[in-house]
Amino acid sequence: MPIVSAPPREIIERVKKLRAEIARHNYLYYVLDAPEIPDAEYDRLFRELQELEARYPKLITPDSPTQRVGAAPPKKFGAVRHEVPMLSLANAFAEQEVVDSDRRVRERLGLEQVEYSAEPKLDGLAVSLLYQRGQFTQGATRGDGETGEDVTQNLRTIKAIPLHLYGTGYPELLEVRGEVYLSKRAFAALNADAQARGEKVFANPRNAAAGSLRQLDPKITASRPLAFYAYGLGKIQGGAMPDNHSAILAQLRDWGLPVAREQKVVQGVQGCLDYYRDMGARRAQLPYDIDGVVYKVNRLDYQEQLGFISRAPRWALAHKFPAQEELTEVLDIEAQVGRTGALTPVARLKPVFVGGVTVSNATLHNQDEIERLDVRVGDAVIVRRAGDVIPEIVSVVRERRPPHTRPYHLPRHCPVCGADVVRAEGEVVARCSGGLYCPAQRTGAILHFASRRAMDIEGLGDKLVEQLVAQKLVQTPADLYTLTPGQLAALERMGEKSAANVHGAIQKSKKTTLARFLFALGIREVGEATAQTLANHFGGLDAVMQADEETLQNVPDVGPIVAAHIAAFFRQRHNREVIQRLRAAGVNWPGMKREPAAHLPLASKTFVLTGTLERMTRDEAKEKLQALGAKVSGSVSSKTSYVVAGADPGSKLDTARGLGVEVLDEAALLKLLRG
Ligand code: IVH
Repeated sequence: MPIVSAPPREIIERVKKLRAEIARHNYLYYVLDAPEIPDAEYDRLFRELQELEARYPKLITPDSPTQRVGAAPPKKFGAVRHEVPMLSLANAFAEQEVVDSDRRVRERLGLEQVEYSAEPKLDGLAVSLLYQRGQFTQGATRGDGETGEDVTQNLRTIKAIPLHLYGTGYPELLEVRGEVYLSKRAFAALNADAQARGEKVFANPRNAAAGSLRQLDPKITASRPLAFYAYGLGKIQGGAMPDNHSAILAQLRDWGLPVAREQKVVQGVQGCLDYYRDMGARRAQLPYDIDGVVYKVNRLDYQEQLGFISRAPRWALAHKFPAQEELTEVLDIEAQVGRTGALTPVARLKPVFVGGVTVSNATLHNQDEIERLDVRVGDAVIVRRAGDVIPEIVSVVRERRPPHTRPYHLPRHCPVCGADVVRAEGEVVARCSGGLYCPAQRTGAILHFASRRAMDIEGLGDKLVEQLVAQKLVQTPADLYTLTPGQLAALERMGEKSAANVHGAIQKSKKTTLARFLFALGIREVGEATAQTLANHFGGLDAVMQADEETLQNVPDVGPIVAAHIAAFFRQRHNREVIQRLRAAGVNWPGMKREPAAHLPLASKTFVLTGTLERMTRDEAKEKLQALGAKVSGSVSSKTSYVVAGADPGSKLDTARGLGVEVLDEAALLKLLRG
């Protein structure tokens, strides 16, 4: 029940205290990025304040943190005139343009070198926030720069925007300018949500931020995790501000307004270009999208001297990154088969320069994604390449669709091996059912086995593995260890030298760790981390191989699905054989037990080699035989199982004949090695 009489003194004090505490925690969280208390504790303070205000409505003030969503939706936004126009920035794309701009600035100011404030250029939308006596009273969009829309109620819902400035010393009237944006993570969550509800997804964080801020109902805006960064000032009255831009930003930060952490003071044009390169390299790791950086002459008196030219200040320059979105055309759609058999549709594009590289392929992920986009061969599409991520198709330009296009469907048979393509109930991924008989899956499995984080075989790239698989030289990872330099050198685009290097890298990879080995096997759902946990938990390979699903589930992070994949993998006789052959080939790791090679086809057989072989050296033949479990000895005795005789054999052949030991020629040996 609300109490209408005057609230007791201790309640008034408590409410004040709570608001101060909440403001301080907002500051720590949004401005300093260094929260002191967990979210739950913050929520507790917030609820306490809400309860007290509910009991004593007289205590509610418009700048109370509980009052972010208040007013009812307006019919349309009012207009706000910007007394100090909201300008735009001149753009530079090439380094030379930055150099030229700096030269002009220096010439006008008569300086050798200029100090700049370098800042990220956030990809959101510009707003103006008016603080009167520290209280947030009005917020507006940029509009045409002269007049914007009154979005005060929506801006109030953004928690990074303080409703009341923190600390003291601010001017009577302070207009702050900055960017409303969505972090990459918030954007992804927002779109995932929209997709789950079957709503339209946003093409990029910028559109999502703009769409969210321009909602008439502040409740909708409040449900969107918008953020804000300040980057400058508008009108100031009744107070003074520092005399350089970076100090102004520091001051705004002290008053509780978030400022980009990446903002930095740099010296001269070289400082600017270094900053540009550094931000370009860090772009993918930043929590928000940026489309470039901004350089601003740091001293305000210099800014004033420089003035404006056609709606843009001469003292600031936006240095843009190469466009991340471009228009192009879908030439074809193909299904690629990965190592787990997953079919990934890939759009072949008319090559287009985007995000700093030429893009001619874009992943379409899966059939659902194709249907969501309704992308067809012949369509005009917008492709996006952000940072190092795989290029993606953002949307189809429907107005430009040529006549007679047809919806695309993944094939029903594997394009590589012809096996049925199946899509399990409830799964988004369609898979080739050919297993390791499918050359694509085999190639994928071997590439994975050889990859850097697995067995780390340098130089074993996809073109090479494709050839090895196509020529049936390698069917399983174990076959890698019986490859000879001669076989490698005979492949396309391989010289003697690179063949020797790859052969050396394969030999070197034998020394590994159990975790790497487990990861290299390519068991479904067993990534690097799980492989490491399995290795730590079981300590040895045999223990992992023998573990049943129940035992496997005792391993931290291994649930029933992963356990089932692991157990199923080791149940396959084929897989156990491959592992046995890998061990016999000499793959080893610290703490590995020397395991008997009893399962191998040539176990318990002893070979003696004599004469010159044509297709391989004796050493290579020896290695291959050993890989299959055989012993290779230097002298013939009654215990010798076979003598392999090449051209010009020595006395060993006579001894063998004398003892009645079976003699093989090279053709017979090859047949034996092929199994
Ligand atoms: S300063 C008079 N600084 O870029 C200078 N703008 O292309 C006005 N923007 O409308 C802008 N980050 O929305 C400035 N650190 C930054 C910025 C930034 C993003 C946006 C802003 C502006 C647009 C101009």
